[in-house]
Amino acid sequence: MAGEQGCCRVTCTAPVNIAVIKYWGKRDSELILPINSSLSVTLNQDQLKTTTTAAISRDFKEDRLWLNGEEADITHPRLQNCLREMRRLARKRRSGSEGDTAPLNLTHKLHIASVNNFPTAAGLASSAAGYACLVYTLARLYGADGDLSEVARQGSGSACRSLSGGFVQWLMGERPDGKDSVAQQVMPETHWPQLRVLILVVSAEKKPVGSTAGMQTSVDTSPLLKHRAEAVVPERMAQMVRFIQQRDFEGFGQLTMQDSNQFHATCLDTFPPIFYLTDVSRRVIALAHRFNTHHGATKVAYTFDAGPNAVIFTLEDTVDEFVEVVKRSFPPESNGDQFLQGLPVGPAVLSEELQSAVVLEPVPGAIRYILHTQPGPGPQLLEDPSLHLLGPDGLPLRSASAAAPGEPR
Ligand code: DP6
Repeated sequence: MAGEQGCCRVTCTAPVNIAVIKYWGKRDSELILPINSSLSVTLNQDQLKTTTTAAISRDFKEDRLWLNGEEADITHPRLQNCLREMRRLARKRRSGSEGDTAPLNLTHKLHIASVNNFPTAAGLASSAAGYACLVYTLARLYGADGDLSEVARQGSGSACRSLSGGFVQWLMGERPDGKDSVAQQVMPETHWPQLRVLILVVSAEKKPVGSTAGMQTSVDTSPLLKHRAEAVVPERMAQMVRFIQQRDFEGFGQLTMQDSNQFHATCLDTFPPIFYLTDVSRRVIALAHRFNTHHGATKVAYTFDAGPNAVIFTLEDTVDEFVEVVKRSFPPESNGDQFLQGLPVGPAVLSEELQSAVVLEPVPGAIRYILHTQPGPGPQLLEDPSLHLLGPDGLPLRSASAAAPGEPR
């Protein structure tokens, strides 16, 4: 960025994460402090990522933001909190290091452009990748250090877990100022090379109740949620860390499914109740259990967030067979050639027994597509200047509205 004419630009990417011990409920909604710790797997950016360019220049008149090519409201309170905290971290660093001749003036205005290569608000944790990417990019632009997870958390709780790769825990902390509510890597993405993730996209519609509003109603009304946070999650966190460390898929898979089910039970226990799972989600759940029963072991594990899409964890050697089972159960209607996306999937021949025990009453078209991915690293700085989303004048380039590659239209 140094020596560039016009503005200084930095471009970074950040990943999506999927929780296996769910975060649901805040004890402080201003600072975004959770009522329980949570644990997630960071997904590979080859398949799902947010890319953000931040530019700073004394010529800019005001802070501006573009999301997927459209100018967006930069006054959003959570966004403002992140900008303020990043400027504060940058100032702290500058005043702390004598003789630092950082070229950037913190009073100069920012232009920010961000794109997702997957549908926004489709239940694929776009806010997590988005805020993680914003905070990481600003840190690189300002040369700020300090715990970025504390800042990303204030954009969207789950965003703090997208700042590391592999397996990441967000410790709830105890302090009222949130200084100890931070995300930490449990194990890097290289720890469990056989682990695979299949995202079964059942709908790309906007979700009915957003997680922020939904979890607040749950905190206010669900006794089950209170019990979960106090009596269930602490032990599950410790167990989940152990299963991951030992690469114990049986334990990891079972606990992942149980925790997803308990999260959705707290949604049903919320008053009025919230329903994120649909008939298709429930069919996927039943299918996974039939598949595991047939094999006499936990071969696949599902988890669902605040939407109907299923995320399936499995091991490399099971992918081909399970994908074939999903294809037979939910035959693609129109997009046969785009039904499988991401990492390659090989052909599989299903035995008669498997077929008759597991594939019941196919529902054509219920699953739009399957995205095959795996755990991946945390945010990355892009060194290639041709990848900036903003031009030297600080305005969006065509790439800033890039259509999602791999997303069927
Ligand atoms: C179901 O992080 O989106 O995906 O902090 O209000 O922005 P806010 O909520 P958000 O909630 C995510 C909820 C979840 C579970 C999880 O990711 O742990």
